Amino acid sequence: MTDLSIMSAQPSRRTGTLYYKMAEELAQAITSGVLQAGEKLPSIRKLSSQRQVSLTTVMEAYRELEDRGYIEARPQSGFYVRAQRGFAVPDLTQPPKNPSEVVIDPLLQPSELARLHDIKVDFGLAILSPKLYPNQQLQRILAQVTRQDPEMLSDYGKPVGDLELRRQIARRALAWGGHIDAEDILITHGGLEALNLCLRAVTQPGDVVAIESPAYFGLLQILESFRLKALEIPTHPQTGISIEALELATRDNAVKACVLLPNFSNPLGSLMPDENKKRLVEMLSERRIPLIEDDIYGEFCYHGDRPRPAKAFDRDGNVMQIASFTKVVAPGFRVGWVVAGRFQRELESLKFINTYSTSMLLQRTIARFLESGGYEHHLRRLRKACAEQVASAVAAIQRFFPADSRLHVPQGGYVLWLELNPAVDVLILLQKALAEGISFTPGPLFSPSHSYRNCLRICCVEPWTMRHERAIQRLGDLAAGIIQGD
Ligand SMILES: Cc1ncc(COP(=O)(O)O)c(C=O)c1O
Repeated sequence: MTDLSIMSAQPSRRTGTLYYKMAEELAQAITSGVLQAGEKLPSIRKLSSQRQVSLTTVMEAYRELEDRGYIEARPQSGFYVRAQRGFAVPDLTQPPKNPSEVVIDPLLQPSELARLHDIKVDFGLAILSPKLYPNQQLQRILAQVTRQDPEMLSDYGKPVGDLELRRQIARRALAWGGHIDAEDILITHGGLEALNLCLRAVTQPGDVVAIESPAYFGLLQILESFRLKALEIPTHPQTGISIEALELATRDNAVKACVLLPNFSNPLGSLMPDENKKRLVEMLSERRIPLIEDDIYGEFCYHGDRPRPAKAFDRDGNVMQIASFTKVVAPGFRVGWVVAGRFQRELESLKFINTYSTSMLLQRTIARFLESGGYEHHLRRLRKACAEQVASAVAAIQRFFPADSRLHVPQGGYVLWLELNPAVDVLILLQKALAEGISFTPGPLFSPSHSYRNCLRICCVEPWTMRHERAIQRLGDLAAGIIQGD
């Protein structure tokens, strides 16, 4: 059995040994990319003299790394870092064709799993490590704002939000070609409130809403609470929803709204190409079906410019674009926004009824942070950290999961969608993993038809360590055990 000593209270006997420590150190160098695939390792003799350890210690360390799939011996040549097997990408999904009522099992939610179990390595929660946020800068700005404008503590603020923040958001939209006035923006209590308001503005209980499949479970919970029916549309892990399938579905069903994540969707990580976004926006506009675009992850691109939202192709205000500072600046602030086009006034009235306003103090703090230029620097750091975390997780999954697993490697965000051999019931895998202190989000939570029974979402929210590496190894072993009928 794999050694999970970092996770268990009782360290195993092997972990204290010299060879094991050396193996761990080399494994860390491989996972962090210091040692690259195909690179030759020092000979046993050389390493033993460099480190002043016995030949046996180095041999044992190399054997351990070979067993764990990090390196391979090449006859007459020495030891090399093993190249990764690339996993195949999952196919376009095939959800049921009819709309369904939504009933979500709250016990499968990552926050519930974390509450009810003793989790040591959590791949379930999509909340980035606090270390990745500019907490000190925000703390300083918050103190300044309170000093300069103490009345903010006693002010309800305006339901539409702080004009300073809305101006900053409008300015940033120029980067993706968005010509948005500050007045077109409504500040909300995170993306979640925005999603609630948008759906409330355009649907009645019993209506059908088209969604990607699999879809973010938070959205499914909102649909459930509004008694809306979900129409799952086939979605590709690389390019997002199938526009052809959506077009057909809207002919066969009275679809009242469509909720999508064109940029780095959760959980698939898909990125819709610009031409698809354009076709999507035009097609929905012709049919007068509002598009609710959840652009929460749009900023999380690993390379180049941030992708354009579907809103960039909106000509008649049919797109409601939702975004938030929760994931990107301050999870604790819960400040989000929506640019709702032709539904803006309706949303403003709903915001008034729902929560009246969002904290002025926190809005102004973010506005000043954006103004200071600190945001760009922070964003670069955050994107790099997410890219590295995801790359390490991908490498570990490819190393340790059964060879017939399928995986899409995203170009942004920090979630991974993994499809396993159909023999693996992820709910059984989850029970086994939880018993060992490891958590992830099971596929059925992302589907009203409870599909994706052999799929899971892995969130890469912390700087990668050997603790994560071993947890992935253990998950891979457990999945292989289920396939073998253990
Ligand atoms: C796809 C998606 N939309 C919306 C939200 C909610 O956003 P916020 O935390 O800003 O309310 C989340 C949070 O996990 C999410 O993953």
